[in-house]
Amino acid sequence: MRFPFRRRTAAAPVPVAVPVPVPVPVPQGEEEVLLEAVSLTKAYAGAAGELPVLSGIDLTVRAGEIVAVLGRSGSGKSTLLRCLAGLIPPSSGTVRYRGTPLTGANPGTALVFQTFALLPWLTVRQNVELGLEARGVPPGERALAAAQAIDLIGLTGFASAYPKELSGGMRQRVGFARALVVEPDVLMMDEPFSALDVLTAENLRGELMELWDSGQFPTRAVVLVTHTIEEAVLMADRIVVLGARPYGTIRETVEVALERPRDRDSAAFDELVDRVYRIMTGRPVDTRPAGRAGSDPDRRTVAGTPLPPASVDGLSGLAETVAHRGGSCDLAGLADELGLDIDDLLPQVDALDLLGLAEVHGDDLLLTGTGAAYAGADAQDSRAVFAAAALEVPLVKLIANSLGDRPGATVRTGFLRDLLGRHYTVEQTDRQLETATDWGRYAGLFAYDADRQEYRRQ
Ligand SMILES: Nc1ncnc2c1ncn2[C@@H]1O[C@H](COP(=O)(O)OP(=O)(O)O)[C@@H](O)[C@H]1O
Ligand SMILES: [Mg+2]
Repeated sequence: MRFPFRRRTAAAPVPVAVPVPVPVPVPQGEEEVLLEAVSLTKAYAGAAGELPVLSGIDLTVRAGEIVAVLGRSGSGKSTLLRCLAGLIPPSSGTVRYRGTPLTGANPGTALVFQTFALLPWLTVRQNVELGLEARGVPPGERALAAAQAIDLIGLTGFASAYPKELSGGMRQRVGFARALVVEPDVLMMDEPFSALDVLTAENLRGELMELWDSGQFPTRAVVLVTHTIEEAVLMADRIVVLGARPYGTIRETVEVALERPRDRDSAAFDELVDRVYRIMTGRPVDTRPAGRAGSDPDRRTVAGTPLPPASVDGLSGLAETVAHRGGSCDLAGLADELGLDIDDLLPQVDALDLLGLAEVHGDDLLLTGTGAAYAGADAQDSRAVFAAAALEVPLVKLIANSLGDRPGATVRTGFLRDLLGRHYTVEQTDRQLETATDWGRYAGLFAYDADRQEYRRQ
């Protein structure tokens, strides 16, 4: 499990940044536009042709700003970043760098990856020089620039080390140095802290923000992909929240006008985190249809009701936790307290909601009557409650109905894949089948034979 840094407790030492004068905010539209995506869509292959994962994305990155792209796993964050970096072409729409449409790799960007992506047979210095080599910089200049980047990012003394000798945090510093050495206009980071332990991530974030605030960062703008709300609020000037239903679209853009360096213990910080949480859970309290009319089980379809990647263990655990707190709790607070991030928590929340076991109001999660019964019952009765609820979920219902009452009947996953493939990409289809299998097995609705790739009656 990944732990985000804690908000209301003081678990992690916070690097103290030297306060710098807060720059006077430049009115929107005055700073130079570096990067621009217009009506961008991107589709990947499904069983029946291309399926969009991003749709209608308009995004502008200006000099001087840090833009966070925040979204749950699978919402299309990495896809968007790769399109902006020119590593993959959009299916439609345009990406422009300084006004010029991209035809290949974006010359104004450099990337930092979650997995570091270092070459193990090269030293730190050689890894850092790679980017310059690719851009045809002569050796003398390369060495000088690499040494500067290595110093800037706190790797002095590690220049001749090999990646395997380094801790995760030091390896990611090499990732940063390698991107910064080319002095890109826009530094792009794809969840750069999520493979690091809490303290290391916290330290590295703090150091980067210090460099940014002090103007020593050799880049003019940053695009940060993250699934951690607090990281976005801590670092970004603007948070672009991607929603994944039905396709990755910009759900809302949030301006973060908090002074830097930011105080995460302040009420204003907490308020923003809560607000973004509400946007991410996507069920604003005022617009939620009364009595769950919008999610009337009778009108649900397989295409319109994707199953969240939530195991029975996880969603049961959440239901019980909420039951212990009297049947309702605040999601942001719960995540904070349990050290969960949105990718750990929100799929379970969606699952309880889909099953009719809980409802989300604002950023509160409330167990329904059925949910309370589920959480309170013994194992046998819980399964019965769960089975009834799961049969209202289209994909589970489809499998159960296809099996019918015939003894020995089977349903092949190929059939389900073809059907789901009309609406979802291969990866999305796989994930949903995994969830349906887990739920259906636990509920005693069907068994699954992985070798034969088929479902049968239990
Ligand atoms: N190369 C690919 N082929 C098919 N589907 C893909 C590919 N890459 C990503 N996807 C699908 O596109 C969606 C968005 O993926 P991604 O951009 O990696 O999201 P994120 O970075 O937000 O987790 C996911 O459902 C994923 O399964
Ligand atoms: Mg990603």
